[in-house]
Amino acid sequence: MTGKAKYSAEFPIPNALYGFPVRSTIAAGTITDIDTAEAEKVEGVVAVFTHKNAMKFNQVPDAESTNKMTMPKSVLNTTAVKSYGQYIGFVVAETFEQARYAANLVKGTYQKTDPKIDFDTYVDTAYKPDNANGAATDTQRGSMEDGMSNASKTLDITYQTPIEVHNPMEPHATIAVFDGDELTVYDATQMLGATKIAISNTFNIPQEKIRVLAPYIGGGFGSKLRAWDHVMLTIMAAKMLDRPVKTAITRQMMQTNVGLRQLNRQHMRLGATSNGKLTAMSHEVVTHTAVDEVFAEQAGFITRTMYDTPNQLVTHRVFDTNIQVPTWMRAPGETPGSFALECAMDEMADALQMDPIEFRIKNEPKNNPLDGKPFSSRSLIQCMQEGADKFGWSKRKQEPRQNKKDNWLVGYGMAAASRAAPYQESSSRVKLFYGDDGLEAAIEMAATDIGTGTYTIIAQTAAHSLDIPVDRITVTIGDSDLPVTPGSGGSWGAGSFASAVDAVCEKAKDALKKKITGDSTSLTAADELMKAADLKEFQIEATESPSDDSKKYAHFSYGAHFVEVWVDEDLGMIKIPRVLSTSAVGTVLNQKTARSQVVGGIVWGIGQAMTEETTLDKRYGSYVTRTFADYHVPVNLDVGDIEVHFIPEIDEHINRLGVKGIGELGITSVAAAIANAIYNATGKRMRTLPITPAKLVDYKE
Ligand code: MOS
Repeated sequence: MTGKAKYSAEFPIPNALYGFPVRSTIAAGTITDIDTAEAEKVEGVVAVFTHKNAMKFNQVPDAESTNKMTMPKSVLNTTAVKSYGQYIGFVVAETFEQARYAANLVKGTYQKTDPKIDFDTYVDTAYKPDNANGAATDTQRGSMEDGMSNASKTLDITYQTPIEVHNPMEPHATIAVFDGDELTVYDATQMLGATKIAISNTFNIPQEKIRVLAPYIGGGFGSKLRAWDHVMLTIMAAKMLDRPVKTAITRQMMQTNVGLRQLNRQHMRLGATSNGKLTAMSHEVVTHTAVDEVFAEQAGFITRTMYDTPNQLVTHRVFDTNIQVPTWMRAPGETPGSFALECAMDEMADALQMDPIEFRIKNEPKNNPLDGKPFSSRSLIQCMQEGADKFGWSKRKQEPRQNKKDNWLVGYGMAAASRAAPYQESSSRVKLFYGDDGLEAAIEMAATDIGTGTYTIIAQTAAHSLDIPVDRITVTIGDSDLPVTPGSGGSWGAGSFASAVDAVCEKAKDALKKKITGDSTSLTAADELMKAADLKEFQIEATESPSDDSKKYAHFSYGAHFVEVWVDEDLGMIKIPRVLSTSAVGTVLNQKTARSQVVGGIVWGIGQAMTEETTLDKRYGSYVTRTFADYHVPVNLDVGDIEVHFIPEIDEHINRLGVKGIGELGITSVAAAIANAIYNATGKRMRTLPITPAKLVDYKE
C-alpha cells in the first residue's frame, strides 16, 4: 500500500473547519429543547447548528415515487425524531477533536413516543408500496391454486434474512468548498452525477456551478449511491460560515445514518410433479421501511426470472417503522431473495429425492419468464455442471448425515446464482498526444472506482483499441466535470465504462482515417493513423448507449456456488473449508479484478450466512450492534479456500464488448449454498439468517 489512493476526507484543504453530527438518543418523538450552551463554550467551536438556526432546506417531495439518488434532502428542519441516531445537530469547529467533543455536550430534551421497531408487532400494518426498488411490486401468472393442486409435492416455508449494514473500508466523508457561487465537493460517492443533482436540488445551486470529486472510494456496496444527511450538513455549514468544511462520519454513524438492508421475511410456496417439473411457485416478501420514506427491497425479483413454472406469484409488502430508511446493498433484491429461492429449490429437490442440479436443469426456462424476452446469454447449466465437476459434487450423498469425520458432520451444498446485468449509457473522452516514448492517450470520464479496478479496465480497454502500451494510457475519473457516466452501481460499471471507452477509441480512429488523404485501409494502430494524418494531438468524445438489438434481450449474469461445511453439532460450530464458484459473465475484462469481485462477494456471502446481523433494542429503537465489535463480519479464520472459475461465454447482444456485470453476482446465493450444505451435513434446515451456533444447537423440526 502506498497511500496514493486518496479518499475524500484525505484532501488537505487550507482553512477548513470540521463538522461533527449530533445524533438523537431516542427513536421516536419530538425535540422539546436542545441545549447548545456548553458546546458553544468549547475552544475552537465556530457554530452549533440545530433546528433553531439551520438553513431552510428545500422540501422533500413524495419520497416514494421520486428518484432517491437525486431528490433533495431536508436536514435539521424539524423537531420530529423518526429514527434512532437521526441528526439533531451539527457542530463545526477548528479541529475534528474539538467538534467531536463539543457534539457530545449538546443535550436534547425530548417528548418520547413508543418507537415502532418490533417486526412481529407491526408486520400486520404492511401495505403495498408503489414499486419494489423500481421493479413491479407484484407479478402473477397462471394460478397458484391450480399449480399447487396439480403438484404431487408441495412446500410452504418461510425464510428470514436480518437487517444488515454496509461496512466499507472507508466510512462516508465530505468536504465542501465554496469559491464565490461555485461549489466543489469531495465526497465518498459511487455516483458523481446523481450527487451533483441532489445537491443542486437541495440548495437551488445550478448544476454547472457544482463539481463533485471522488477519485478513489474505499468501497461503496450501495451505501454510497445517494447523498446522505452529512453531505448536506457539510455544504450548509460551508455556505453559512463561508469557510470550507470537512466531515468524516464515524463507524458508529455508519450503522445508523447511511441506510441499511431490510429484514426480509419471505414466504415461499412450491409445487412440483413427481418427475421434478415445477407447477407453482410463490415468493411473498414482507419488510419494513421508514415512517417518512418508502424503500422496498425487491427480494422476490430473482424468482420472477430464474425458473420456468406455469403458475407464479411474487409480491412485496412494507410497513412503517422508526428504523432508518433502508437502501441498496450489494445485490439488492437478489441477496436476500436468492437465500429463500435457492434454499426452497434445495428443499424441493430433497422432497423429490432428486439431485438439486438435475432439478434445476429440469426447470430451466427458454426465455425470461418475466417478459418473454430471450436471454442475451444464459450459461447457468454450464455453470452448475462444470462447477459440479471441479468441486467433486459426485461424492455428495443425497441423504443427510452420511459423512462423518471424528466429531464433525461434513456436508456439501450448492445453489444457482443470477444477477440482473443492467448495462447503461456512458460517455468518454480520449486525448491523443506524443510524449517521450511515443503516442500516449488520456481517457477522461466521470466514472468512479469503488475498489473494483475501474482505472485498470479503462486503461486496458483503451490500450487494446488504440494499440498503445497500457503504461502510456492515463486515466482520469472521479470528477463530475468530465463526460457523464452512470457511475458505479448495479454491477453496470465495468461493462458501461469499457463500452464507452472502446467506442470513443474506435471513433477516434475512424475520425483520423477521414483526415488521411491517401489510402488508410491498412492502418489500424492509433500511432500509424496519427502519423498518416500528420497530427501531434487529437481529441474526441463519444457516448455509447444500449442498442435497439440489446433492448430485445433480457440481461443477466449467472453462476453457481458449491460449498463444503463441517459441523460440530454439540457446539454448533460451523467451518467452511471450501467454496468453489463458477460465473458466466460474458467477456471478462480482467481476470484478476473480476476474480476479486467474486471472491469479495463470496466472503460477504459467508458473513450473510454466518455472522452479520444488525440488532435493535425493541424498547428504545437503539442499536445493539454499534461497531465492528458487535456487528461481526467474516475474518480470515472464517474463510477457507475460495476457488473462482469463469465459464467462457460470448454475449453478442448486451453491449459492444459483450461484458455483463460481476460485482453483485458473487454474493448472490452464497448463503443458500451454505445453508444447503449444513442441511446435507446435519439434516437441519436453517431458514433464518445468520446461522449462529445457538440456532443450530437449539434446532427443532
Ligand atoms: Mo450497488 S447495491 O448498486 O452498489
